[in-house]
This record gives sequence, C-alpha cells and structure tokens, in this order.
Amino acid sequence: MNDHSPDPRPSRKLIIAIDGPAGAGKSTIASRLARKLGYVNLESGAMYRALALKAIENDISLDDEAGLLNLAEDLRIKLEPTMGGNRTVLDGQDVSSRIRERDVTEAASRVSVHPKVREWMVAHQRAMGAGGGVVMEGRDIGTKVFPDADLKIFLDADPVVREQRRRQQQKIRGEVAANVAAELRERDHRDRTRAISPLVPAEDAVVIDSTSMSEDEVLQKIEELVNHKLP
Ligand code: DC
Repeated sequence: MNDHSPDPRPSRKLIIAIDGPAGAGKSTIASRLARKLGYVNLESGAMYRALALKAIENDISLDDEAGLLNLAEDLRIKLEPTMGGNRTVLDGQDVSSRIRERDVTEAASRVSVHPKVREWMVAHQRAMGAGGGVVMEGRDIGTKVFPDADLKIFLDADPVVREQRRRQQQKIRGEVAANVAAELRERDHRDRTRAISPLVPAEDAVVIDSTSMSEDEVLQKIEELVNHKLP
C-alpha cells in the first residue's frame, strides 16, 4: 500500500478521531491514514507527554495541579508531522524521542488525571483541529475533544498483544526491556478509571479490535469507513 501519495479527491475536510489504549496501534495508523488523506495527524498524547517532561525538568510535582497548569500556560509546543513520524518540539527543542522514554510515559498518564490540565489540553486541541482535515488520536477525542467528529474509531487489542507490540517498539528504539506488562497495565488502569474523561469508546464510535489484524488491514477498514463519509 502506498501511503505517500495523498488522495486526490477534493472533498470536505473531515475530523477523524482515533482513541484507544496504549499499544493498540493508534499512532502508526493515524499517521498513515493522515498521509493518505493529505490530512494533519495530531497526536494529543504528545501534548500530555510534553507537559510531563516540562514538569520533570522543572521539578514540579505530578500531583500539583496548579503548578502543572502554570507550566501548561507557558508551554510552547509544536506538533510537526514528518514522513518519519511526528516530531514534537518543546520550547524550540526536538523532544520527540525523549517524551517516549519510560519516566515521561508514566508521568504523562499522571498529569492527565487533573481536570484543569485536561481543560487546557482540550481547548488547545479543539483549536488545533477545528478547521478539519485532521486525524487526531488520543483517549478522549471522540468523547470530549470532538464529540461531533465525522468519524470516531476506538482502536483496541488484546492486552497481551499490546504488550508484545510495546516490547517490539522498545527493542527498535534500543531501550532496555523493562517490565512492559506491569507498566502498561498500570497505565491502562489509570487512563480507564480516572474521574475526568476516562478512556471509553464514544457511543457512536466504531470499535476495531486489531488483535489479529495487520496494520494494512486496520488501515483499509478505516479507509472504507472514511469513504462512506465522503461525498
Ligand atoms: O497516547 P500516549 O500513550 O502518547 O498518551 C500518553 C498519556 O497521555 C496517556 O497515558 C494518557 C494521556 N492522554 C490522555 O489522557 N488523553 C489524550 N487524549 C491523550 C493522552
């Protein structure tokens, strides 16, 4: 499948929401889909990760909601889609790799439980995607950020498969294999049970279980759904 030539159809610019737990394949699929459609891929998790990194660097407690909000208000973050994936630039510095590391990953899940932090994120995410022509991925895009999104996908997979995929990603990045299963389960639990905007499929989301599907199959299925939404 060639992802590099955007679909030539002139059409309405949709808002496509892809939510789901860690390791379900959201990032890869969202970025490939955006490239195919000539859309922008906005990875909302990168914003939580960038804030978490800033909190770590500034010694702000991950439990200090007011302190985190202050940091967020100063956040200069750019999400730049590139052919090789999404680049995240924080205060002028490329932090794309750093924000994937384990400490930031855990911290991102912790900063995301705070209602005021979420409000700030949601407002900015709405502003970034409002014009359409976006594939935005995260946990609450279909439920909270864009409840009227044109298409909502909830991408899930069996936890064992998600753990395997995470291990594989770590290996590719040359990271020391950590206790992937426990960390993933803990993060899942926190993301699914937090009081504000927990990870749940929107009522009108199409749930895709990618456990035994290839990336190409998932992409094809979503493209079919997109085609139904386009004139
Ligand atoms: O998608 P990700 O793994 O990069 O997200 C990192 C953390 O950010 C995730 O554990 C929960 C939080 N998050 C969120 O609460 N809402 C989003 N829309 C995206 C991410």
